[in-house]
Amino acid sequence: MTTLLLDLHVRRKAYPGGRTVLTDIRLQLQAGEVVSLVGASGCGKSTLLRIAAGLDDIFEGHALLEGKPLGLRRVSRATVSAVGVVFQEPRLFPWLDVAANIGFDGSAEYDAKRVSALLDEVGLAGYERALPKQLSGGQAQRVAIARALYTGPRLLLLDEPFSALDAFTRVRLQDLVLELAQRHGASLLVVTHELEEAVLLSDRVLLLDEGHIARELTVPLARPRSRDDSALTRLRRELHGALKQAA
Ligand SMILES: Nc1ncnc2c1ncn2[C@@H]1O[C@H](COP(=O)(O)OP(=O)(O)O)[C@@H](O)[C@H]1O
Ligand SMILES: [Mg+2]
Repeated sequence: MTTLLLDLHVRRKAYPGGRTVLTDIRLQLQAGEVVSLVGASGCGKSTLLRIAAGLDDIFEGHALLEGKPLGLRRVSRATVSAVGVVFQEPRLFPWLDVAANIGFDGSAEYDAKRVSALLDEVGLAGYERALPKQLSGGQAQRVAIARALYTGPRLLLLDEPFSALDAFTRVRLQDLVLELAQRHGASLLVVTHELEEAVLLSDRVLLLDEGHIARELTVPLARPRSRDDSALTRLRRELHGALKQAA
């Protein structure tokens, strides 16, 4: 049985004074699903992700998480904590140590035990008192992942989370995010411009073109997946072809 987690219908999204960025997008995510959004720069991926995060509710349509409206003006605290977001840059507060960054939720207190357990899970046990400037790019992104998981989200949104990392770190963090999402029971919606990454991680890949979903590709491969599986290469080629067609 599948459970509908995210139900998005963006009939139209335009920025003030700007042209229409998204039109007639329907996006539904089942609990436990991993979905990628790919598409050329500027086609509206981050805009769609911000709507799914409840960070932008100025659009025509609806955004529901487990049947409840998302959006800054309407959300309850419970709906906010049900979504975790990781951006391309770690976006840590430079003056707060790692533990405070992970536990930061606007209140003074944080659950130190939970923070330490998460640090352990992202491979940074003992880094509670470190400052962001003492971390490598990969370590800082691990902290950002731990922070996104702190509230126990059912949906993790990632906007090009590995783009700024070297190839070795990227491979490790891809595996880590998949493992953590599964362990924490969170669904994943990942924006990426790496087609290889999209097919490796996802159950479905959505190709966004000029503000609408031009193509949907299902990746019917069991997990864990092997990076050199020829079926993945085939799917990546198919996606590449669709992308060229859309261009
Ligand atoms: N805050 C904003 N105000 C006005 N226009 C914006 C804003 N954010 C993004 N845009 C425009 O919306 C379009 C889609 O942007 P974005 O969603 O960031 O694309 P992507 O993430 O796919 O690169 C672009 O043309 C961009 O210039
Ligand atoms: Mg973007």
